[in-house]
Amino acid sequence: MDEKKVMLSGIQPSGDLHLGNYLGAIRNWAARAEEYDCYYFMADMHTITVRQNPADLRRRTLEQLAQYIACGLDPEKNTLFIQSHVPQHAELGWVLNCYTMFGELSRMTQFKDKSAKHKDNINGGLFTYPSLMAADILLYQPDFVPVGEDQKQHVELTRNIVQRFNGIYGEVFKMPEPFIPKTGARVMGLTTPDSKMSKSIPEGCVFLMEKPEDIQRKFKRAVTDSDTENPVRYDPAGKPGVANLMNIYAAVTGRSFDEIEAEFAGQGYGKFKPAVGEAVIETLRPIREEAARILADKAYLEGVYKAGAEKASYVANRTLRKVYKKVGFVAR
Ligand code: TYM
Repeated sequence: MDEKKVMLSGIQPSGDLHLGNYLGAIRNWAARAEEYDCYYFMADMHTITVRQNPADLRRRTLEQLAQYIACGLDPEKNTLFIQSHVPQHAELGWVLNCYTMFGELSRMTQFKDKSAKHKDNINGGLFTYPSLMAADILLYQPDFVPVGEDQKQHVELTRNIVQRFNGIYGEVFKMPEPFIPKTGARVMGLTTPDSKMSKSIPEGCVFLMEKPEDIQRKFKRAVTDSDTENPVRYDPAGKPGVANLMNIYAAVTGRSFDEIEAEFAGQGYGKFKPAVGEAVIETLRPIREEAARILADKAYLEGVYKAGAEKASYVANRTLRKVYKKVGFVAR
């Protein structure tokens, strides 16, 4: 029998999970466990590139694990773990730092954005973040890395590192492909349709654990435009706010843009915006309820992340040993 293909991805527990994380990433992770060998982790080591409150980071890391499971990632079928529990990430991260160029790292959009936002803390980790992310990926030799559009550049850089490393040492790493969804790959802020939905603008960000009435209020206040003649139509350049809402509605209902235009033909935003809100609320409701139930069972969560770290370390160690041998380190 052929070996299963491998999938891997991670999210930083630097804030509460939001609709962008769900539609751009997690939703595409679930329900693939039969087909793929899947690894998903809490990227806690990445979060300290920006200052974190330690107690909040610990709490959010466990909440994120409960939410992963509530989103349909069965720990019996997926390897779920905390990045800092698997030391091979830091170890391979160092090696790959030495195979990643200053110029490449300087071009990364996330570095440019974050260093503009945190001018008082432009640390080395923020700069070399993509080599650690390359290590996260390459330790598990995945075929696919399911991420939203904004992470594509980091996966492309990982591919460059693979090419460089394998060019010197032979076929050590498998070449990973980014796996970007058709709808939901770039969810924009509800109040800022020109920038991606992110926790840094909470009024325009819908969190997975948010109460239905708060979610509905955010959708009702979503920025659209003053078009009154046939307003619900897909025109991302001319009507970015509406295009974003259509994108979200398409992602949660599975409807096409044509079907959505037909559904709201002759109706205004007063009907459209709450309908999108309602569809999102119904998608998130079971996740919210299940996550709260799982989070209450600390012993269960501990069992999950311990077993996950053990399995992940075993696999990661195989790759790391191979790399250490190739670069010339003496075996212990
Ligand atoms: P992070 O934590 O910022 O985001 C996690 C995932 O959510 C996606 N995402 C979005 N998708 C659509 N619309 C949005 N508004 C939106 N906001 C976020 C991201 O594309 C991502 O898939 N560096 C990564 C974490 C990471 C990682 C990895 C990912 C560390 N190591 C290895 C994959 C493989 C990050 O900061 O994502």
